[in-house]
Amino acid sequence: METLTVDLGDRAYPIHIGPGLLDRADLVLPHLVQKRVAIVTNTTVGPLYLARLRQTLADAGVAAEAVVLPDGEEFKNWETLNLIFDDLLTHRAERKTTLIALGGGVIGDLTGFAAASYQRGVPFIQVPTTLLAQVDSSVGGKTGINHPLGKNMIGAFYQPQLVLADTETLNTLPDRELSAGLAEVIKYGLIRDLPFLEWLEANMEKLMARDTQALTYAIRRSCENKAEVVAADEKESGQRALLNLGHTFGHAIETGMGYGNWLHGEGVSAGTLLAADLSRRLGYLSQADVERMAALFRRAGLPVLAPNLGEAAYMDYMGLDKKVEGGKIRFVLLRKLGEAFVAALKDEGEQAALQATLNEAVDRG
Ligand code: NAD
Ligand code: GLY
Repeated sequence: METLTVDLGDRAYPIHIGPGLLDRADLVLPHLVQKRVAIVTNTTVGPLYLARLRQTLADAGVAAEAVVLPDGEEFKNWETLNLIFDDLLTHRAERKTTLIALGGGVIGDLTGFAAASYQRGVPFIQVPTTLLAQVDSSVGGKTGINHPLGKNMIGAFYQPQLVLADTETLNTLPDRELSAGLAEVIKYGLIRDLPFLEWLEANMEKLMARDTQALTYAIRRSCENKAEVVAADEKESGQRALLNLGHTFGHAIETGMGYGNWLHGEGVSAGTLLAADLSRRLGYLSQADVERMAALFRRAGLPVLAPNLGEAAYMDYMGLDKKVEGGKIRFVLLRKLGEAFVAALKDEGEQAALQATLNEAVDRG
């Protein structure tokens, strides 16, 4: 097992990464203020891992009730959030009852937001079971739900007490979901870690074959990157926005195509290639850089061509991005591979570059 820390002063918390952690009550117990938890999971992950986690906790004298939600991005909404509250209230969950999110990013984001708001805040623990959740969404305290008009538009920053990433759970993850997680892994290399990007280029086939050592290294390096960024800028007043490379375009793709049709990681992959195309048109990346990026995403089994939503629809969705300031969209761009920055478009020439990206770098059939 490897352990990292998200260094947030008196709210610092550990990320444990390794095999068999679902059996480790000793890692959970120090973080419980009451020997009572509510495990939130879904109809896919529940049958795989709920009984085991419950047994681990029961053996340590912890009472665990379960909330089993429908599975899918299209359920990351108010109605599903309310199912969690219904259950907590029905079972008279208290302020010291810890919520445990057992699942992927959808369960983590929903559970975190429920924890942030139930009785004005109860403790919570992330037990991520997708690659995407283990490398990104379980770390850093962004929680929330989607709105029909925009992705992740309602939520709260609320940090967990602990992240427990059992790498063995990835054995049951469908290939498409593994690839979706790799999109966020590649992101860290692109925005701030060129040696990691090069390592990914050398090891992508191992990752796709689920080589345990390679996956564990990729998870650890991703979490190290994320933990550093979050510790420096918890509430995204600066560098944390870089973690959104490809997300301005990607969220538009997810919303525009209907939640659940393009996976989050798939939207991030194609969205990152749009951000790369824009970075090239603005004079930062070379065509060779963009092709190098596309080759890596392709080897990770990810789509590199964004759907043609139409310039107007893209602009509409992106106008609701959380990085918009004074009505201006701010983009995460690449100055070079391994270095990202955030900027609004300065003049008509740069606007024309964006129009060209949205019209020419998308899937034109
Ligand atoms: P997900 O939660 O929908 O999980 C993907 C699928 O895999 C689901 O069907 C799930 O039930 C299933 N699954 C989960 N674990 C499994 C396992 N071990 N074996 C078999 N099946 C398993 O999707 P995701 O990719 O984990 O997360 C995407 C969500 O995360 C999006 O809503 C995105 O907005 C959010 N996100 C949040 C942050 C953040 O910082 N909070 C960061 C990135 C993404
Ligand atoms: N996934 C983006 C962030 O956590 O800031």
